[in-house]
Amino acid sequence: MYSVSIRKTRMHPGKHAAALAALEHVKIDTILGVGTGSTVNIFIDALAAAGTRVKGAVASSEATAAKLQEHGIEVLDLNMTGQLELYIDGADESNNNLQLIKGGGAALTREKIIASASREFICIVDQSKQVDVLGEFPLPIEVIPMARSYVAREIVKLNADPEFREAARTDNGNIILDCYGFSITDPVELEAAINAIPGVVTNGLFAMRPADKLIVGYDDGHIEIIDKPS
Ligand code: 5RP
Repeated sequence: MYSVSIRKTRMHPGKHAAALAALEHVKIDTILGVGTGSTVNIFIDALAAAGTRVKGAVASSEATAAKLQEHGIEVLDLNMTGQLELYIDGADESNNNLQLIKGGGAALTREKIIASASREFICIVDQSKQVDVLGEFPLPIEVIPMARSYVAREIVKLNADPEFREAARTDNGNIILDCYGFSITDPVELEAAINAIPGVVTNGLFAMRPADKLIVGYDDGHIEIIDKPS
C-alpha cells in the first residue's frame, strides 16, 4: 500500500510493520507529536512516502526535527500548538499495562513532555520490546551534570546500579545514567521516587502517563494492537 523499500522491510520487519500501521491513525491536517528512534524514523519516512498532509509536527529531539524537515514537514514549537491530538513514539520496553521504559535514544525528557501534552499516545514497537516486568532494559535517567555523582549514590540506595553513558549529552545539555537491576514491580511508585531526587530531570519510566495504544509488529509482518486496560 505504501512505498517502503523491501530491503528495509527485511532488515527490521517488526518495526516496519508497527510503523506502517501507525499511519492509519494520523488524521490529515492535524499537528502530530513525533518521537525519536529507529522505529519512528521508519514512521516518518512512511508518512512522507504516503503523502499524508499534516499541518506540522512537534519533535521530541533535534534528530527527529531534522528528519521531519528533510521531508518538508514543518516543525512547530509545543508552546504555540496547545494540546496535541496524537503522539507517536517507540519504546525500549512495554508491559501489559502499556507502561514503558524509554530513553535509549536519550530523548526521554522531551518525549515525556510531548506524551503528557497529547490526548492520545500510540507506541510503536517490535515484538522484542514486550515484557512482563519492566527493568531488564537499563532505566535511563537524565541528570543535571553537576548532580551526576549525588544522583548515582541515591540510585544505589534504591538497589540499582547506575552507569554513566559516556559521551552522551542530551539535547538539553544534560547527562544520562543508565540504571541496571531495578526490580520494577510498581512502576508508578518508582517513577515518582526517582523524580524526587534533586538533580534528576526525568527518568525513562512512562508509568504515570503510559501509552494509550501499543502497536506491536512481528517478524512475519503481522501486527497486534493493544489498548491500555481501563
Ligand atoms: C528514544 C526512545 C526510543 O523510543 C527507544 O529507544 C526505542 O528506539 P528504537 O525505535 O530505535 O528501538 O525512547 O529516547
